[in-house]
Amino acid sequence: MIRSKHAQRMVLVTGAAGFIGSHTVDALLAKGCRVVGLDDLSTGSRLNLALALRDPGFHFVMGDVTKDAPLIRVAEKFRPSAIIHLAALVSVQKSVHDPVLNFELNVAATHRIAEIARRFGIARVVYASSAAVYGDPVRLPLSETSPTAPISPYGAAKLASENLLLGCARTYGYTARCQRYFNVYGPRQYAGSPYAGVLSIFAQRCLSGRGVEIFGDGNQTRDFIAVRDVARANVLAVTAGCNSGVANICTGKETSLRQIVCMLRTHFPSMPPVVFSVGRHGDIQRSLGTCNVARRELGFVHRVPVTRGLGDYLASLIDGASSVRAKMRR
Ligand code: NAD
Ligand code: UD1
Repeated sequence: MIRSKHAQRMVLVTGAAGFIGSHTVDALLAKGCRVVGLDDLSTGSRLNLALALRDPGFHFVMGDVTKDAPLIRVAEKFRPSAIIHLAALVSVQKSVHDPVLNFELNVAATHRIAEIARRFGIARVVYASSAAVYGDPVRLPLSETSPTAPISPYGAAKLASENLLLGCARTYGYTARCQRYFNVYGPRQYAGSPYAGVLSIFAQRCLSGRGVEIFGDGNQTRDFIAVRDVARANVLAVTAGCNSGVANICTGKETSLRQIVCMLRTHFPSMPPVVFSVGRHGDIQRSLGTCNVARRELGFVHRVPVTRGLGDYLASLIDGASSVRAKMRR
């Protein structure tokens, strides 16, 4: 049975209460791994861990990855054999506005993780990198050998962290997998801030009868990937037995914001007209990845196309909203 195959494995997930973190925790538990989740709940929520908190194989620790003490405590107590490091400042725009926090959380904290791996003999570190390492590409699609030229503090920090982990892994004899996620969307993505991901903002606005605002001309594209595919890729990076390396985690399909709006109109025909505003500083115009390395090294292929994934995501939000209304009526 698949569940028992990884039963002895203890995995530390930082950022466990976040969007990708909580789905990754659920996917690890479903494979029979034991999991300790570390999070300071700054953007994440315990609600995201509702399923995991009922599982005896899951432990939650409240703690800050920019401090040594919580990481050392968790490593001493739980002796993980792998770390999936997801805790971060996630917004490109926020990194432009707060480059100091970007450095603390997206570079210095990665060094702390590398140190924990070295000191405690942890065999494998999986890192949440980003398509932002490529910057504004000259040629598409982006493969792992495409030039890296970040155009934001966030992208620069992700690239620095990759190099730090790959160099330390090689020096100290553990495995580092850097997962370059493209644009992830789906249930539990936080929408309540201007720094949130575009699909969560658009979905929530449509749901409440409001229109969407596009920064720029709407022809910017992203390779949107469903969170359940990303969670599966994270599990594979822990369990597949591959060597250190970098892999795009993407679908290989490019979708513009204008196309997203057309898809939304099929679900919300009376959606108000789009408001177009000035483009954002640090924004990438086009993004599209190739997935050959992930297929070869992790055995990962995405399963959810964006049309279906967006429909499922909207359906989950509508279900959630109607069950809240039903509870309020009771
Ligand atoms: P998220 O904000 O939902 O998750 C981040 C989690 O980290 C939150 O639960 C937050 O509370 C926690 N956290 C933040 N600062 C912390 C600290 N100092 N100590 C402990 N915990 C802390 O964001 P997400 O979208 O799930 O992103 C997860 C990772 O994936 C990040 O590293 C992000 O850069 C990366 N990533 C995300 C996307 C995407 O499209 N969402 C794409 C590429 C890469
Ligand atoms: C996103 C992720 C980042 C990740 C990167 C990988 C978030 C918040 N950011 O950054 O962590 O590393 O993908 O590719 O999840 N936009 C609008 N209207 C809005 C909101 C956004 O037009 O209301 C536009 C933005 O200007 C941008 C595009 O949508 O052009 C995508 O923005 P965003 O969702 O913030 O994602 P990225 O910057 O690509």
